[in-house]
Amino acid sequence: MVAAFDEFCQACSEALNSHKGPEGRQLVQQHLETLLSDPEFVAAECGPDAEPGIRTLYRDKETGYNVLVHVYEGGKKGPPHDHGRSWAVYGQAAEWTDMTLWTRKDDGAKEGFADLDEAETFRLSPGKAGTFEIGDIHSIHFPDGARFVRVTGTDLDAIPTNRFNLAEKSVNVGGRL
Ligand SMILES: [Fe+2]
Repeated sequence: MVAAFDEFCQACSEALNSHKGPEGRQLVQQHLETLLSDPEFVAAECGPDAEPGIRTLYRDKETGYNVLVHVYEGGKKGPPHDHGRSWAVYGQAAEWTDMTLWTRKDDGAKEGFADLDEAETFRLSPGKAGTFEIGDIHSIHFPDGARFVRVTGTDLDAIPTNRFNLAEKSVNVGGRL
């Protein structure tokens, strides 16, 4: 692993150990932007020859955060989802990702039902990162060849998360992005 990645993990551990709230995540976002400005790291993990798929680069035993790299051949527009009780910081390495934030209009009382309103969309271009706090609902849209690094507060495969269906106004537990 390149030196910049070791420095990034050390800086994230320090930030998350000393700031348990949103300030810690803001520091992770800043550190991720620094990491993505390192050409050696980007070439090694997110370059043109990177294997398509999702790889976990690091799991922090102490604070529980995960660092994953997402390498895509084909573009995709995903459904709105949250990250359960976790937060997520996305940082763009190649191409772009449009992030759309959604607000929930219903109170969640009716099982399986969810009514979402589109709030705002912003674009992550290479070198830029964005933070999604615990409970935030977002959807992602990226073109062919997009690559990004994602830091999550915990292993999202191990916790329940919500995935929303806009057309059916429904919500299901599961999903990963
Ligand atoms: Fe997400």
